[in-house]
Amino acid sequence: MSERFTGNFTQQEPIPEEAIEAAVAVMRSGRLHRYNVAEGELGEAALLEQEFAAQMGAKYALAVASGGYALATALRAVGVKPGDKVLTNAFTLAPVPGAIASIGAEPVYVEVNEALTIDLDDLEAKLAQAKVLMLSHMRGHLCDMDRLMCLCDAAGVVVIEDCAHTMGARWNGVLSGRQGAIGCYSCQTYKHVNSGEGGLIVTDDEELAARMVMLSGSYMLFERHLAAPSPEVFERVKYETPNVSGRMDNLRAAVLRPQLRQLDQQVERWNARYRVIEEGLRDVPGLTVVERPEAELYVGSSIQFLLLDWSEEAVQDVLSRCGARGVELKWFGVPEPTAFTSRYDSWRYADVPSLPQSDRILRGIIDMRVPLTFDLEDCAVIARILRAEVSAVYQTG
Ligand SMILES: Cc1ncc(COP(=O)(O)O)c(C=O)c1O
Repeated sequence: MSERFTGNFTQQEPIPEEAIEAAVAVMRSGRLHRYNVAEGELGEAALLEQEFAAQMGAKYALAVASGGYALATALRAVGVKPGDKVLTNAFTLAPVPGAIASIGAEPVYVEVNEALTIDLDDLEAKLAQAKVLMLSHMRGHLCDMDRLMCLCDAAGVVVIEDCAHTMGARWNGVLSGRQGAIGCYSCQTYKHVNSGEGGLIVTDDEELAARMVMLSGSYMLFERHLAAPSPEVFERVKYETPNVSGRMDNLRAAVLRPQLRQLDQQVERWNARYRVIEEGLRDVPGLTVVERPEAELYVGSSIQFLLLDWSEEAVQDVLSRCGARGVELKWFGVPEPTAFTSRYDSWRYADVPSLPQSDRILRGIIDMRVPLTFDLEDCAVIARILRAEVSAVYQTG
């Protein structure tokens, strides 16, 4: 009898008790809206921002309704207007080009390489086409951030970091989201902290921070923020910045604060699981492990490997054989977009360019979630199944 895995790839851990109690307290108070605070009370949303700014070493932080909303807000704040072009990764998920399109701007896709990061040579060649780069650290893979920042600074291109998959990760010791002008995070259920939906933003720029607070829908209550610039900065922007409501509420903020305090331990737990699977995938003929650079402290909340230049039938065979043994894989080469894995050529509201390098790599990307409800033995079982099934299909191919 061959081994079968019975875990659930979409099962997250429960919300910590402390967070549940804090959420219940907010509900008992009836004051769920972030600006609905009692005399002298510091609301959960404002406290979350204050703590997140300190944790990220940022001057300013803002909590919003979703990661996608955070991205669109950052684009608005840096001055992107309808018709403008915005550079972004060809390998990312739908909310990224979606945020660009939501303000009438147009994505210019940059090729992905075998490290699953933005191709810096292609970026360099395209830098003159836009004033903003929305850099998506897709599936937690960080590019050479030092080189990227050098290129963008020299070209005067503003960098917005999409850290939906890199909250807690670092490049050369610097927290992800802290090298660009603005860092954006998601707190959606499958991310590194879980409030169902939610987003966080950090920046050191006072004017960008003030604009984003106004954009998020602060009415004229910005003085109730604890991680925002001083009122004089708001005076400069408050009449010319529209309210595009997308605030976070006190309930979600209460759920997030205890989780953020545990982030570093969670990162270690994810990486222990990641390493077991990664080790198990080494030396499998036909399978390319995505090597992680030494400068990168990643968060292994998902793992990718490549079946480069395999036929569609062979990849489908691997997916169905692994699926039959309980291992759920996603494939970025699937001809019709399914669930989370759509591709740049599925986003037909924008120009679909020719990106041959990305096409080859996307056709080879196999993606798997690693929820913390799996233990190390679960990860070993998964690795054995992947190994056996990839090898079996490769040998018959
Ligand atoms: C790469 C990436 N960026 C941004 C987002 C947007 O986050 P949210 O779902 O919170 O809007 C997601 C969500 O799946 C994502 O995967």
